[in-house]
Amino acid sequence: MTDTQYNLIPDKPEIVTSEIEVVSFFNKMDPREIISELIEGNYVLIEDFYNNGLQVLEELKKGLRRNHKSKNFQGQRDYRAAFRKASHRLLVMVVDHKLEVKKAPEIGWLKILYPEDNEFLISFPDLQGLNSSWQWYLKGLEIEILKLKIHPFYGTYFPTRFDHLMLFDKWLKKYEGKKNNAIDIGVGSGVLSFQLLQNGFSRVLGTDTNKNAIIGTTQESERLGFSDRLTLKYGDLFAECDIKADLIVFNPPWLIAKHQLAEGIDKAIYYEVDLFPRFFEQAKQHLEEDGKLILLFSNLAEVIGDSDHPILDELNKGGRFKKELYMQKGVKPSSKKTRRKNWRKDEKVELWVFTHI
Ligand SMILES: C[S@@+](CC[C@H](N)C(=O)[O-])C[C@H]1O[C@@H](n2cnc3c(N)ncnc32)[C@H](O)[C@@H]1O
Repeated sequence: MTDTQYNLIPDKPEIVTSEIEVVSFFNKMDPREIISELIEGNYVLIEDFYNNGLQVLEELKKGLRRNHKSKNFQGQRDYRAAFRKASHRLLVMVVDHKLEVKKAPEIGWLKILYPEDNEFLISFPDLQGLNSSWQWYLKGLEIEILKLKIHPFYGTYFPTRFDHLMLFDKWLKKYEGKKNNAIDIGVGSGVLSFQLLQNGFSRVLGTDTNKNAIIGTTQESERLGFSDRLTLKYGDLFAECDIKADLIVFNPPWLIAKHQLAEGIDKAIYYEVDLFPRFFEQAKQHLEEDGKLILLFSNLAEVIGDSDHPILDELNKGGRFKKELYMQKGVKPSSKKTRRKNWRKDEKVELWVFTHI
């Protein structure tokens, strides 16, 4: 591990530590009467029960829907933007890393992410995000194919379906090339790096532009006993490292961004147009002569009606790599209980193996 990883400060929701004017919301009040304060730009403080925050948000949704009736794309986008703004003015007080409302969940992130702040205000939606992430962190996520549990750090992408891991596993089990070292671009919660190490790679370098991913995976790697073989570096793509690898793997974001990307999880899902050309250009420099470049991808963009396929673009126009193998696998729904329309029916994950031309 390098110094830089010890010095990383995690990304976390903004808090208010200065004095600000707030309107109090008490349990006996009618949530319908407070939402105009939020919509008009005033801060509202939940004083009694955690549940009051949920009630106010519910009313806020209803109220804003009445003002944003248009069902078209722009109308819905405006509604979401208005909800985001107004809901973030709904606040809860935190003292000594505990919520100052009754029947509130314990959220360990409040101490881990804000060790020095003993008293502050935080928005209710941010608390909900922290709470849900804390539950995952506590409970952990069983990754069957790795025969281990991971505990994802706040703000880090983690897989909820495992088809791409199965596909990679199938390929890795047959791989007979050198296993001196590998590079895992966009390491996230570490699953592909752990897979490489379990399959006999001597050393792996994992990079990510998300600080929380590097912080969390560093901790997990220590806990799981991988840290002497796994180096983690915060940075863009190859993070300016100067090594060449026998294998490079990248499970990139699968959808092209049509909005300005925020730091963190957003960049796990959406990519900017220049991401893939930059990746292939750098991969050319970092792949050993007889090395393999693996991309895990999906036809999700096609399924939802987009035509972009940055990997095919590279094959057709890049002039850097040739395709050695292509494998695909149908995606299993994450839960039998999903009521969502079955548009994932035709979704497939893809594994592409490239070698130098
Ligand atoms: C789909 S997630 C995959 C995470 C993990 N490898 C897995 O398979 O579960 C994509 C990851 O790539 C990271 N990422 C996105 N753009 C990046 C870039 N330019 N350089 C390095 N990592 C990037 C994201 O932060 C995210 O952790």
